[in-house]
Amino acid sequence: MAEKKSYNIAVLGGDGTGPEVVREGVKVLQAAAAKHNFTLNLTDFDFGGDRYLRTGEVLPANASSELRKFNAIFLGAIGHPDVKPGILEKGILLRLRFELDQYINLRPVKLYPGVETPIKGKGPEDIDFVVVRENTQDAYAGMGGVLHEGTPQEVATQTAVYTRFGVDRCLKYAFDYTRKRNRRKQLTLCGKTNVLTYLYGLWERAFHEMGDKDYPDIKREYAHVDATTMWFVKNPEWFDVIVTGNMFGDIITDLGAMIQGGMGIAAGGNINPDPGGVSMFEPIGGSAPKYTGKNVINPLAAIAAGQMMLETLGEDKAAADIEQAIATVTGTKLKSLAAGKMGYSTTEVGDLVAQLVADAK
Ligand code: IPM
Ligand code: MN
Repeated sequence: MAEKKSYNIAVLGGDGTGPEVVREGVKVLQAAAAKHNFTLNLTDFDFGGDRYLRTGEVLPANASSELRKFNAIFLGAIGHPDVKPGILEKGILLRLRFELDQYINLRPVKLYPGVETPIKGKGPEDIDFVVVRENTQDAYAGMGGVLHEGTPQEVATQTAVYTRFGVDRCLKYAFDYTRKRNRRKQLTLCGKTNVLTYLYGLWERAFHEMGDKDYPDIKREYAHVDATTMWFVKNPEWFDVIVTGNMFGDIITDLGAMIQGGMGIAAGGNINPDPGGVSMFEPIGGSAPKYTGKNVINPLAAIAAGQMMLETLGEDKAAADIEQAIATVTGTKLKSLAAGKMGYSTTEVGDLVAQLVADAK
């Protein structure tokens, strides 16, 4: 008999409601592992605002080298009301994305059954696409600075940077993903070629060169980012897979989260697809401090992040069971996805999903 597979997972609960939703995510992951005959060895890390306030250190110097020893990272949320904005976001989240070279941020936008979307007349068959956001370059690269700070002459620059290498590896992932998803086999480049002519000129040339050469089976589309936000609302069914830069990807995926029913359900993966790459999965909603410890926050986004983690680890059947369980819970149980209005507590929602996974055929 084949040896039982085993995965080492680093768990970063983080701030606010992060630990609560991660606990439910882990509950569901363990149910899936038991069912599908693999084991998960979990190791907790206390990175986050409380640790920073206690120790003055945002992240230990060896954090990335420690985390590189794991098969994947499961993250709750980063962001603390007593810490100035930017410190934890840059010092933990962005630093890990960069140091672990998680150059893809994968964000599915899927309306589950029974979930209310603010888009009138659209249902689950219309809202089901995936955004592939580049995750290491653009204005996020940190190139720039200020001159004469605090004076009337102040100058500030923050340069958006793209390398051909960085664009190509992101496009390759997006094309491969579109092929594997095998839905409409359509990849839309979202850019701004009418103004950011250098940046998105590079993206556009690389997109078509790669498509012509290696992906004749994938239909290519292009949309400006401003028009993309319009189509998300007006005709979300036009999209299958979207590939875009880091900054635009950040913005359009918050809109994407809203049309799929809100932050309670939106999950993402920071993925390093290279051999041996360590990826990090997170609910994208943030730490929601006002709900901390109340057992009212919706854990489905964290549970969906766990599902994405299993998919990336190659446990496709286990991941599919979790997805089905989420759909059953939204479709037949929850009154709303909003915190405190679900009709169930955080832990009860975790129990419902875990039970469905355990009972899955
Ligand atoms: C996200 C967040 C982060 C980003 C912040 C917290 C740095 O908004 O994951 O989308 O801008 O990438
Ligand atoms: Mn964001």
